[in-house]
Amino acid sequence: MIKIEQEKCIGCTLCTKDCPVSDIEMKEDLKAHPKNERCFNCGHCIAICPVAAIESLDYDMSEVVPFEPEAFTLNSENLMNAIKFRRSTRQFKSAPVEKEKLEKIIEAGRYTQTATNSQNVSYIVVTDKLDELKEAVFESLNVMGTHMINDPNTDPNLLKYAHMWVHMYNAHKENPKVDSVFFNAPAAILTVSSHVVNATLASSNMELMTNALGLGTFFSGFMTLASERTPIIKQVLGLKETDNIVTCMVIGYPSIKYKRTAPRKKAEVIWL
Ligand SMILES: Cc1cc2nc3c(=O)[nH]c(=O)nc-3n(C[C@H](O)[C@H](O)[C@H](O)COP(=O)(O)O)c2cc1C
Repeated sequence: MIKIEQEKCIGCTLCTKDCPVSDIEMKEDLKAHPKNERCFNCGHCIAICPVAAIESLDYDMSEVVPFEPEAFTLNSENLMNAIKFRRSTRQFKSAPVEKEKLEKIIEAGRYTQTATNSQNVSYIVVTDKLDELKEAVFESLNVMGTHMINDPNTDPNLLKYAHMWVHMYNAHKENPKVDSVFFNAPAAILTVSSHVVNATLASSNMELMTNALGLGTFFSGFMTLASERTPIIKQVLGLKETDNIVTCMVIGYPSIKYKRTAPRKKAEVIWL
């Protein structure tokens, strides 16, 4: 619910014009008044008000900070370089990741946009339980792989993955230090959401923050796939069968340094 301090309001109409659901109106007193009928709490009115007259009763308003050009503006060249230089890290130091850093990564996810401002992405941080989760993923991949190898209807293109998973499982069983699922990283953050795009966008910002904090990460698609196909992973995480793990970011301090960017295919673009 939105509240506008009438004594502060200068009647500039910026909030009424920027409200995406036209839920603020100007009245005869030339002040803005919230209707609170269709508001989905996006906070645009709070962010745009030149005199900070607007608050939401649903949020912690002490988290709102004023714009400062120095601190809030990204240089496009640096941003592009950061995007190009970002790599999936699969070689980690054994050092744990500080809780404050994990919290900052989640903060980057929390502030990411969501459809209709639903903010329906939740997070699971796995550190202490990582070994248990890892075993569950290896078991799942082995079950999935073995099933696919024995199924004559398996798509030949997928068969190579089936063999890879069984091989990964056997190598890990032989030597538990051989870990081609989490690569012996000390932490993972999972996003859980019914909305795949919301969680994916959040994850992308989280990855950028991970790198900015001097950490490395990669997205474990094997882990999320295994969580869709076998129940054991959600059981380990205390999730319901219907919960949807969208991404699994494996995180730790990189034990390697990249010297340059990696090449990419040209973009396929249609300009109309
Ligand atoms: C959705 C998704 C799933 C992925 N799953 C895995 C995985 O299970 N294991 C792995 O080692 N890398 C995984 N990766 C990392 C990709 O292999 C990697 O992004 C790609 O090879 C390009 O390398 P780069 O990230 O360093 O640019 C995944 C990446 C994405 C985006």
